[in-house]
Amino acid sequence: MPAADLAADLRTLWRMLRGQPRQGRMAERLQAFYAPQAERYDAFRAGLLHGRQEMLARLAIAPGSKVVELGCGTGSSLEFIGGTVGQLASLSMIDLCPALLAVARRRAAEWPTVQVIEADATHWRPAQPVDFVFVSYALTMIPQWAEVIDNAYAMLKPGGRLGVVDFHLPASGSRLGNWFWRKWFGHDGVHLSGEHLTQLRRHFTVHFCAERRATVPYLPGVQAPYYLFVGERPPATGD
Ligand SMILES: C[S@@+](CC[C@H](N)C(=O)[O-])C[C@H]1O[C@@H](n2cnc3c(N)ncnc32)[C@H](O)[C@@H]1O
Repeated sequence: MPAADLAADLRTLWRMLRGQPRQGRMAERLQAFYAPQAERYDAFRAGLLHGRQEMLARLAIAPGSKVVELGCGTGSSLEFIGGTVGQLASLSMIDLCPALLAVARRRAAEWPTVQVIEADATHWRPAQPVDFVFVSYALTMIPQWAEVIDNAYAMLKPGGRLGVVDFHLPASGSRLGNWFWRKWFGHDGVHLSGEHLTQLRRHFTVHFCAERRATVPYLPGVQAPYYLFVGERPPATGD
């Protein structure tokens, strides 16, 4: 790895070791945490945030669709969606952190149908119902994550699909393992829960669901638990 990249990774690790600030409004805490990491965010998180491309492939976003991403960060999903971005009716990318949104705006500049919006994923809504919503590693950063699931449900058309990928505490995990991951991630404001899948299954008809583990950069010998979920909003009662 080039020395400059290693130095940037070390700065990111230092920020992560110091943890997410505990004081202030959520947007200010996110900005303080992410601003020093924003330019190197994608390279570092590539080795940590597994399954994003697979979740999007399984979500199967169709050309002509209206799409929302909640908690878009730097907009790296644009790379994963690829050429289909240009064929979408619209893609609204929502986040609360200005430093990461600045990177997302640069990335989105070539796509006239992509809007990058500073807003809270618990209550921002599009003007019209949409066909697809996805959330990648953001539910664990939002204490009111259940409200984000409710919000995604509310903004989807009946038959529309939600894709989620995130860390979690698996029911099959050992007590010690789940304790370790809860502490390790909690330090950086990432709050692991065993409840996401229960809540997602309650709202959506399951198309795909998998629980997995994957490596963590600079933490040899351990694998963090994460899940992939794709579900459909059932037709409204009486349809
Ligand atoms: C771990 S990052 C994931 C970013 C991106 N989805 C990815 O997969 O690379 C979590 C993101 O959630 C955003 N976030 C946290 N709370 C939020 C909220 N209430 N509303 C919108 N975004 C939020 C953070 O600013 C951050 O960009």
